[in-house]
Amino acid sequence: MATPVRRPSSRKGSMSDVPKDLLQQIERLEGLFTVPQEKLKAITDHFVSELAKGLSKEGGSIPMIPTWCMGIPNGHETGTFLAVDMGGTNLRVCEIVLPDAKGEFDIIQSKYRMPEELRTGTAEELWGYTADCIKQFIEYHHEDEKLDQLPMGFTFSYPVSQEYIDHGVLQRWTKGFDIDGVEGVDVVPPFEAALKERGVPIKLTALVNDTTGTLMASAYTDDTVKIGCIFGTGCNAAYVEDCGSIPKLEHMNLDPKLPMAINCEWGAFDNEHIILPRTPYDIIVDKESPRPGQQSFEKMVAGLYLGELFRLVLLDLHTNPEVQIFKGQNVDELQKMYSLDASFLSAIEVDPYENLQETADLFSSKLGIHVNKPELELCRRLAELIGTRAARLTSCGVAAICKKKGYTSCKAGADGSVFNRYPHFKARGAQALREIFDWPSDLKDPIEVIPSEDGSGVGAALIAALTLRRLKEGNHAGIRDPQAILASAKS
Ligand code: GLC
Repeated sequence: MATPVRRPSSRKGSMSDVPKDLLQQIERLEGLFTVPQEKLKAITDHFVSELAKGLSKEGGSIPMIPTWCMGIPNGHETGTFLAVDMGGTNLRVCEIVLPDAKGEFDIIQSKYRMPEELRTGTAEELWGYTADCIKQFIEYHHEDEKLDQLPMGFTFSYPVSQEYIDHGVLQRWTKGFDIDGVEGVDVVPPFEAALKERGVPIKLTALVNDTTGTLMASAYTDDTVKIGCIFGTGCNAAYVEDCGSIPKLEHMNLDPKLPMAINCEWGAFDNEHIILPRTPYDIIVDKESPRPGQQSFEKMVAGLYLGELFRLVLLDLHTNPEVQIFKGQNVDELQKMYSLDASFLSAIEVDPYENLQETADLFSSKLGIHVNKPELELCRRLAELIGTRAARLTSCGVAAICKKKGYTSCKAGADGSVFNRYPHFKARGAQALREIFDWPSDLKDPIEVIPSEDGSGVGAALIAALTLRRLKEGNHAGIRDPQAILASAKS
């Protein structure tokens, strides 16, 4: 066994008995996963130009989708709305009442589990299941009532091209979904058909991305919020552009001053691999995903991939004859793709014990592996590195939107499992913003990422309300079915 070497670490004295060969590996990983200040700045600058490219007529990697959500809530939106969120693990159905009181709302909601098989099943099963859940919700909450139509905001958080707000052609599945016959198709007609077949009295008013919902829900209560972000299974952001700054909409002759929420779909940033510091492990994650070459940025930062990156590094260190961590142990579980998720890393990062007892217990219960103390130190450092890289890289996206829009002080409302539950994610992201903008140490963060209101519920309802409001005001731009939408709101 090599001689132990002392080295500085985030945990006091923790590395003192890590043998030299393992320390060298830790240092190699630190080199691979650390994103220094200058790199953050370079990524941010490239991000700014890619945001602009996405809005250009020629287009770029980042889709920068105009959502036809053309307003910001002023807190006075009113009405009763249904909001449906087809997330990866759950389907959430809410009924939201926006009362007269400014910035308030009442909500009733039910959650339904999305069966795992649906992710790779057929389109018919997907829409049928979604419509069944909505039907159940309506029957449960409105038993024996004669309901006319209710307007619905439908949160469908995948890249969809929207010629209208009540329309959306799925560009490609992301986040591990892979259902045949949906890509390249408008998702609204089959969904509405499934509702109609079941006699459910709902009119889809707005198809909404979770980031746009988050932006609107946060702006409803705090008008300094200019960006909506999701740091969850996937990662993305939305912000409001003026129509005059969207060259790809020029042919529509919209009033250049009108606002338009843009769903960036920034997960696709750097698909051409120009600037992001990809490691060999990122390359494997991409190759083995259902859509290689897509969502390069997302695959380095989003919750779906953090555990997989961690697993791939450990497996590499196990098979590397010069390192051989977990030597002589059965690693069958570790060999299973996606057997670890981001919550595994979170648990490691919060292990309070000096001897990392909780981490050891976790490895043994989840993977059947007995991990010795130096290996535990390596695992802890690796989790920190992967979690920190994710937080720092996402800040480049937030900074890029601010730079593009010239915002020197604002807030971004954020939601998602990584933002809400991954330890230190917020602080690490905030630190990266400081480094990108070189704020003096005595200046309180001028740009802050804060927890948002409920975007896929309240946000989707607000977008439906904003759509109705502008219809009533005579702005029909980007609405396919204005008469039917107006009729749904009368009841
Ligand atoms: C993926 C989706 C995007 C969504 C994000 C967060 O990036 O493509 O639409 O906003 O995940 O859920």
